[in-house]
Amino acid sequence: MKAAVYKQYGGPEVVQMEEIARPVPGKGEILVRIGAAGVTTADWRLRAAAFPGLISTVAGRLMFGVLRPRKRVLGSDFAGTVAEVGEGVTEFAVGDRVFGFQFGGAHAEYAVVKADGAVLKTPEILGDVEAAALPFGALCALEFLDRFAGVKPGEKVLIVGASGGVGAYAVQVANALGAEVTGVASGERAELVTALGANRFVDYRATPPEALSGPFDVVFDTVGALSYPQAAHMLAAGGRFVPLNFGVADMGKSRQARRNGHEIILKVNGDSKEGLRQLTAMIAEGRLHPVIDRIYPFAAIREAYAHVESRSRKGAVVLDLAPARTCRAGPMPCYCVQRTSVRSLACVGEFSHRPSMAAFATPVLASWNRKPLT
Ligand SMILES: NC(=O)c1ccc[n+]([C@@H]2O[C@H](COP(=O)([O-])OP(=O)(O)OC[C@H]3O[C@@H](n4cnc5c(N)ncnc54)[C@H](OP(=O)(O)O)[C@@H]3O)[C@@H](O)[C@H]2O)c1
Repeated sequence: MKAAVYKQYGGPEVVQMEEIARPVPGKGEILVRIGAAGVTTADWRLRAAAFPGLISTVAGRLMFGVLRPRKRVLGSDFAGTVAEVGEGVTEFAVGDRVFGFQFGGAHAEYAVVKADGAVLKTPEILGDVEAAALPFGALCALEFLDRFAGVKPGEKVLIVGASGGVGAYAVQVANALGAEVTGVASGERAELVTALGANRFVDYRATPPEALSGPFDVVFDTVGALSYPQAAHMLAAGGRFVPLNFGVADMGKSRQARRNGHEIILKVNGDSKEGLRQLTAMIAEGRLHPVIDRIYPFAAIREAYAHVESRSRKGAVVLDLAPARTCRAGPMPCYCVQRTSVRSLACVGEFSHRPSMAAFATPVLASWNRKPLT
């Protein structure tokens, strides 16, 4: 099978297409024929050994390979079809469409997935591309805002990096939890972030996040733009500061935060089947939509990486491994901005929607000078 393999840490150029053996599912595992896979911030950090904050370069290399990566195929977000079922698996059968998240392996034509891990049957309304756009960002947003920060209806939530891989879902999740949401990104993202559910938008180029006054019950920083001392003045009594990228310095500030009546939440995401279940329920209720920035063919994975590393985007970046099967969006309304081809890298506006979604879609498309697909 074809796989995007990396044997040393480095830039996108270390990733090469190779023929490798198709994995065989063991007990409790399924073999998934990958239809689409995300290229996420986690993938580029692992590829480049660019471990932030707490997971310093040394600790990261100890975990993932000191001189060279132990695991050679990256890709955690996946969607596809079950091709084989290992012993003891009862939840899935050959031919089932599935999506989910696991540590690596999805940047290949086939991947072995633990059946009791973060994998579920794909909701009918999602195509593979849309389904693969969800797990990394949406699971992270759900876990941090719902489980760790315990966002309650009516609370004021600030999301820094509100249009990124995690942020575009964080705005929707906070909104679904009943919060009043302020989203921070660059000015051209205003209409998207507002359409996703933000009550207020802040352009960080005009107003740096540390200049905001709040008060906010939760400050969720997906970018690493704020430290606790910079966020403390904008936190309400009982406020929670939730940085996704954190270091030892943040840990040292926990006592100070408690003295101020605040909490610093420093956690690592644990992706779960239960989390995916919550997401699929939100999708079915129309409270969560895939947000796709660009779709690349598998062969253009280096370009996809380069784009993700730019740290400037609108939602997920997805590899389409089966254009003939999945290139058109499914019936699910979703933001799908650009489709890039290997040769031209030309961007084509694309959007699938239902009449009920027109109000939701129109301002976003107008801001991008795009028209809905008919
Ligand atoms: N702790 C954990 O378990 C965990 C789990 C998942 C992810 N993470 C980490 O979380 C981070 C977020 O990942 P991601 O995929 O969402 O990143 P991303 O897509 O690269 O984030 C980009 C977003 O940040 C905005 N932005 C850039 N510079 C900014 C600034 N100075 N102030 C405010 N906003 C700014 C961008 O806006 P514009 O495009 O408009 O410039 C865009 O909205 C990653 O570093 C990842 O490693 C941690």
